[in-house]
Amino acid sequence: MAQKVQFVETVLRDANQSLIATRLPFEKFEPMLQTIDKAGYYAVECWGGATFDVCLRYLNEDPWERLRKIRASVPNTKLQMLLRGQNVLGYSHYPDDFVSLFVRKAVENGMDIIRIFDALNDVKNMKVAMEATVSAGAIASGAISYTTSPVHNHKKYVELVKEMKNMGASTICIKDMAGIMGPQEAYDLVSAIKDAVDMPVDLHTHSTTGLAFMTYLKAVEAGCDIIDTAISPFSGGTSQPATETLAYALRQLGYQVDLDDSCTKTLADYFKTVRDEYIADGTLMPKALATDTQCLTYQVPGGMLSNLLSQLKQMNALDKFDEALIETPKVRADLGYPPLVTPTSQMVGVQAVRNVLDGQRYKTVSKEIKAYCRGEYGTTPAPINPEIKAQILAGEKEVEGRYADTLEPVVESAREKLGELAKSDEDVLSYIAFPNLAEKFFEERKAKEENCVSYSIVEA
Ligand code: CO
Repeated sequence: MAQKVQFVETVLRDANQSLIATRLPFEKFEPMLQTIDKAGYYAVECWGGATFDVCLRYLNEDPWERLRKIRASVPNTKLQMLLRGQNVLGYSHYPDDFVSLFVRKAVENGMDIIRIFDALNDVKNMKVAMEATVSAGAIASGAISYTTSPVHNHKKYVELVKEMKNMGASTICIKDMAGIMGPQEAYDLVSAIKDAVDMPVDLHTHSTTGLAFMTYLKAVEAGCDIIDTAISPFSGGTSQPATETLAYALRQLGYQVDLDDSCTKTLADYFKTVRDEYIADGTLMPKALATDTQCLTYQVPGGMLSNLLSQLKQMNALDKFDEALIETPKVRADLGYPPLVTPTSQMVGVQAVRNVLDGQRYKTVSKEIKAYCRGEYGTTPAPINPEIKAQILAGEKEVEGRYADTLEPVVESAREKLGELAKSDEDVLSYIAFPNLAEKFFEERKAKEENCVSYSIVEA
């Protein structure tokens, strides 16, 4: 029997995030939800930290309401979200009561698969989210934050996979957020994981460097079960490679692909017009769709490069770009080779710029880097350079064990603080994740409702 390859469609989340900064409002993709449901995807990725943030910040949408509405129109296909382990949707660690309640409510509102990762691949930071997912009856997908360094190798990744399996993960995702994984690496890593555990493996990469099609093909040859792709108009560049192209090529090679071509055609036709609107208004920049091989040289994700550029521009120091680029991998090495993914990518990038602009390394250090050196983000892949750590900490004490164990519960106090402004546990969770944004959203919602009431009285 032909080997089956399944697809996760990313247009609602990663493609949307990578190309147009997550600006797709619900109404823009609503007409396509039933087609997505009929297309034969393994899952639709539809939620993550940025989705939540942008819904509240720019789109005036309740992210929970969005999830319920997607669920109502997509009853047959699994819905998937990306969760930053103990960071949930944010940039620092939360207490366990928040992590558990968040996961439980996400599942209650319709989520089927929670893909859980930690920026340092520290399983201590994935455990609570993983257990909450399993006990809520959803699929916990354990994700490897993929990177290359002198201390990262297949043996360690396989160990990580086994630990995630023991914690309750029923599928494994290799998450190559920068699109730096080459076809041979994919073949070797998928083979190593498949040899070690009998679990479905999903590969997630980006087209940034142009490797993605080849990488997926070799991964599939090694037995990869699921690949993450984006419908063609929202594919390529910093997004995923195209769904239809991979379906076509894989079928030609004899693999079983259960996607409905008439559905993907309908989706492509529709999203082409959506894409053109975003190109016309400048939200989708041509640069995001281009191939950029610079990240292969510097092992710096594409998103970080544009952040470096904008930081330097703000400080009128664009001439320091090359220096900052060379400094970035050095900072990463000093910090014990963290994979560069939210939030470590931002922390390393900002520090590299500081080091270059100050003309002295680690003269200024962000509070996040300090917390990182205290151990608040978990165990680093390699030890932090001891001299630099001593300089940064200047005698401050390090965390022993798991940082979240030192945090006080937050849910009850947030509930009390919000009072009637919060109408549900979901509101309380939005508030803990994004206090300012959520509070403003609740105030506006209240004002709108009061307006409606007086209006109906007048009308009556
Ligand atoms: Co991604």
